[in-house]
Amino acid sequence: MRQRTQIAIIGAGPAGLLLSQLLHVAGIDSVVLERRSQSHVEGRIRAGVLEQGTVELLERAGVAERLHQEGLTHQGFRVALDGEHFRIDMHRLTGGKSVVVYGQTEVTRDLIEAHQARGAPLLFEAEEVALHDLETEAPFVTYRHGGVSHRLDCDYVAACDGYHGIGRASIPASVLRSFERIYPFGWLGILADVPPSDHELIYSNHARGFALASMRSTTRSRYYVQVSLDEKLEDWPDSRIWDELALRLGEGIASRMVRGPSIEKSIAPLRSFVAEPMCHGRLFLAGDAAHIVPPTGAKGLNLAASDVGMLAEALVGYYRDGSAEQLDGYSARALARVWKAERFSWWFTGLTHRFPDMDAFARRMQIAELRYIFESPAAQAVLAENYVGLPLRREASRPAPAGGLGAASRHAAE
Ligand code: FAD
Ligand code: PHB
Repeated sequence: MRQRTQIAIIGAGPAGLLLSQLLHVAGIDSVVLERRSQSHVEGRIRAGVLEQGTVELLERAGVAERLHQEGLTHQGFRVALDGEHFRIDMHRLTGGKSVVVYGQTEVTRDLIEAHQARGAPLLFEAEEVALHDLETEAPFVTYRHGGVSHRLDCDYVAACDGYHGIGRASIPASVLRSFERIYPFGWLGILADVPPSDHELIYSNHARGFALASMRSTTRSRYYVQVSLDEKLEDWPDSRIWDELALRLGEGIASRMVRGPSIEKSIAPLRSFVAEPMCHGRLFLAGDAAHIVPPTGAKGLNLAASDVGMLAEALVGYYRDGSAEQLDGYSARALARVWKAERFSWWFTGLTHRFPDMDAFARRMQIAELRYIFESPAAQAVLAENYVGLPLRREASRPAPAGGLGAASRHAAE
């Protein structure tokens, strides 16, 4: 079977689905090929915090209706040190920006629904996907679907196929450079249908290790505890996770934490990774296919969205003007933003986690830096502007309004 499209998109994660939807809005055809089943893709529990720029892209793609109805807008978050809490007032510190709590599962569901409503070609369980002739003007993709071999001719290929995909692996080793940090711990996550212990997120640095209190809605909570890489899920019954969270989040939060049976539980390793360049011939990489961040800054999904925002813009420019100038600049433009998010996620991980080789001096440095943030509006502004997301364009972000940094407030966890 032979078919043609303008853009072949590999992977139906948030990057691939959003790219296809943004292209559709601009009148550009694409076909999305996904290795896994629809229920598998929809069932993966991952990120939960959307930057304003991601929300704007979902609006532009016409898939933000439910997000606006059900998403929770957060204007701040808390950072805790051994049970003492401090609120970062993102809204005030960034001149009015905020983030929206809306799960990646919901974003994915909305995008799949939009594709299926317009009858767009989105193929689940596509097997043996392979990329060909990427260095020519006539690239194509081969795959098997329903036992039949297919060939898809296209103008460009967008590899949105995640860290383990075939896209990055199709770039010759002589061209590709990669940069990596593996962290000596992972996050044990628990999802439960219980109300959150606070209306905002809490990132906690505790002598016993990092903990995060997050949520998906006013009735569904998501919590994480830092664990060593050799920990086994079976050694963590729900009761042990709740007990550990109570210790690491502090008494005030513990007294408000509602415990309940887990509906999902998993351990995820933490990694920083960047591949350069993010293009080769007629192939473009976007999202986890090109980079991974530790989840501490909630940047993974947001970076995937900003990549495809830039790639969609460049492809629209190509089909409108016949000029490949923006496409040629995609990799450098995307990487400039990627590296800043990598730096932030790495820094925030280092500030909040307990490292196995940490001596008393390193611990004192962490404490000193956290106390500096609690006391310095300038340091809070740096944290806040990175957390809400740096701008998609290269111009500097707007400074906080005059006097806006003055009224920092300290909260003890009640
Ligand atoms: P993905 O979501 O990985 O999608 C890639 C898609 O490509 C997948 O559907 C995959 O099946 C498909 N694919 C792969 N290979 C092929 C192939 N050969 N052919 C066809 N299809 C293929 N981020 C946060 O901000 N906070 C979090 O708490 C958080 N938790 C995470 C937990 C886990 C276990 C993981 C893996 C990631 C987590 N992330 C988190 C990161 C965030 O979920 C990702 O950054 C985001 O999913 C990136 O989207 P993507 O579309 O680029 O890649
Ligand atoms: C989540 O809710 O899953 C979540 C929130 C914030 C993070 C990481 C994960 O930094």
